[in-house]
This record gives sequence, structure tokens and C-alpha cells, in this order.
Amino acid sequence: MTLFEPGVGRVDIESGQLQGATNRYVKTFRDLEGLYEDEAALAAVIAEKGDAVAYEVTDYKPSANAGDIIIGVTRMEPGRIGREYYLTRGHIHARPNRPEMYYGESGVGVMLLESPDGQVRTIEMRARTMCYVPPFWIHRSVNVGSEPLVMTFAYPADSGQDYEIIAKAGGMRSRIIDDGNGGWKAVDNASYRQRPQSLVDSIMALTD
Ligand SMILES: [Fe+2]
Repeated sequence: MTLFEPGVGRVDIESGQLQGATNRYVKTFRDLEGLYEDEAALAAVIAEKGDAVAYEVTDYKPSANAGDIIIGVTRMEPGRIGREYYLTRGHIHARPNRPEMYYGESGVGVMLLESPDGQVRTIEMRARTMCYVPPFWIHRSVNVGSEPLVMTFAYPADSGQDYEIIAKAGGMRSRIIDDGNGGWKAVDNASYRQRPQSLVDSIMALTD
């Protein structure tokens, strides 16, 4: 067995980046097409700033080995498209029995979770809030505040990400919107289609 060196990174709140990261990717507003109910509002945002960064991930990935871990930081701009807040694409892990941990660094967010059979949970994230995303839950983060949302995360290195599970269902079951009263609320996504039980069963059987 090869020994790895210990790693170190520093969470820079100002930039929302992990200093010492080995990997970085960004999503622009143009990359978020299809995620929002108000397509005209999204088109207007894309026309104005389509190539601007909507959210960014910097992470430290020692290896993709089973038993190893990926740690990193995500930073998301504040804002809304129509009545919906800015959000990440969301995913289930390609090995769906892998969990994840999120830790709030700054800003106010919501972790939106959905089980394959359509149960929904929301966890409000603030600085020093820790969220356990259990195995088999689809997860997406939403910036419901007026400042950038910065969170640290950690997940098993062989988890992988499957984004299609959301697209195939017409989106996640709930949308996180401005409640018109200074807060947020979850409402039904009219485009959502419940997964057939056979599909739910096949996902829940993926335990390796
Ligand atoms: Fe994840």
C-alpha cells in the first residue's frame, strides 16, 4: 500500500475557495438552462451575464480510491430567477449509497434533499451548520440569502455524481422560492414526475 502525504487547505471566505485545492470547476448561468420554471427570466439573465460564474467548486482530491475522501468548498452567487433562488444542478451519487457532509461557512442557504421515492427534506444552512446528506438522497444547494453562500463539503472519493436522475423526473419535486415576506419556502414543481416503483427499487438495490 502506498502512503499518501497529509493534505492541508484553507477555506478563504472572501473568495469562497479552498486554497490548496487540486481541482476547480465552475458553472455559468448558461449551464443552468432547464432548471428554472421561469424560462423567460432565465433567458434574460443569460442575455445579461450568461458566461458569468453562478457557482464554483474547489476541491482536494487525493485519489478516487474506495475508502478515500474528497474535501472542498463551494461558493454560490446570491440572486433569483423569477421567484426561484439561485441553485446548483443537484445530483444523486453515482454510487447512491455514499453519503456527504456539508458545513456552512458564510451566507444563508437551503440544502434541498429528495429521496428516489419522492420524499422531500429541507435543511437551512448558516455559518457553522453541519448537514448530513444520507446515502440515497438527491441533493441540491440553494442560496436564499443576499450574500454569497460558502460551504465546505466532504464525501467518499468513489461516490461519483449522477445529474440525469433529476432531469429525467422533470426536475426536483420542490422548488425553493421567495415567500414574499423576507424568507423562503418550498413549493411543488409542476413539471415533476414521480419515479416508477421499479426504478426506485433498482436505485435502492445499489449498495456496493
Ligand atoms: Fe454530492
